[in-house]
Amino acid sequence: MKMSTKSKVQISKFREEHLFQAKDILDSQFGYDYLTICDIKKYLDINSLGLVAIDGDTVLGLTLIKLGTLREIKNHFLKGKNWFKSRFIDLEPIALRKHLAVLPGMEGKGIGKELVVNGMKILEKHARSIISIVWEESAGKSVGKILRSCGSMPIHTLENYWSMESIEKQYLCPNCKKPPCRCSATIYAKIIDKKPKRKENTIPPHHNDSILQ
Ligand SMILES: CC(C)(COP(=O)(O)OP(=O)(O)OC[C@H]1O[C@@H](n2cnc3c(N)ncnc32)[C@H](O)[C@@H]1OP(=O)(O)O)[C@@H](O)C(=O)NCCC(=O)NCCS
Repeated sequence: MKMSTKSKVQISKFREEHLFQAKDILDSQFGYDYLTICDIKKYLDINSLGLVAIDGDTVLGLTLIKLGTLREIKNHFLKGKNWFKSRFIDLEPIALRKHLAVLPGMEGKGIGKELVVNGMKILEKHARSIISIVWEESAGKSVGKILRSCGSMPIHTLENYWSMESIEKQYLCPNCKKPPCRCSATIYAKIIDKKPKRKENTIPPHHNDSILQ
């Protein structure tokens, strides 16, 4: 990591005690209530991987990921479900990186990259494909760069990806302001294992172990 405080910043498992700081970061980077406390809590369950970058008690950044079967992960797509299904049918278990954000004022110091690199190392042991849904605003900039450096490539674009959800939840996109959000999502993927999938459509037993404990 390039930041001078590198030695102080640690990557650790996302826990209940980080909830409110995580919400503040997500609110300021993606718009108020883009994720509610209830939404964020869902990343504390066994089929999720949440990582935080912390300095003492201060959360400097986070990434929130879901792990699951094709069917489970499909439900997380706001658009492009059929595209996703046909493209990832043989690549379960699937990890879906849904959110990545750094505390405002702390961007560009290597925190985002550290979160992604650490997440990738863990996910590579548990998933056969790792997908990231990237806000177009970031795809050409830091996030795209970070993902490419970890072997993840852009494979698809979904236009107006958050449009319906922004209307339903009435969140304010930092780019579009008032709903509907008109931003596109770029889908990045890293394929870990191209072997034919197991016959039964299930996640291997190890997936049920808590992945960071
Ligand atoms: C996107 C975000 C998570 C990246 O985290 P970060 O800590 O700022 O990024 P890093 O410092 O780790 O930078 C990673 C790489 O991107 C580069 N980078 C950073 N900002 C950049 C920019 N605006 N344009 C181009 N490259 C940039 C860095 O130079 C670095 O490259 P290097 O490793 O080759 O030196 C953070 O900036 C953020 O929270 N942004 C707002 C929310 C957001 O857009 N989230 C992503 C939604 S998909």
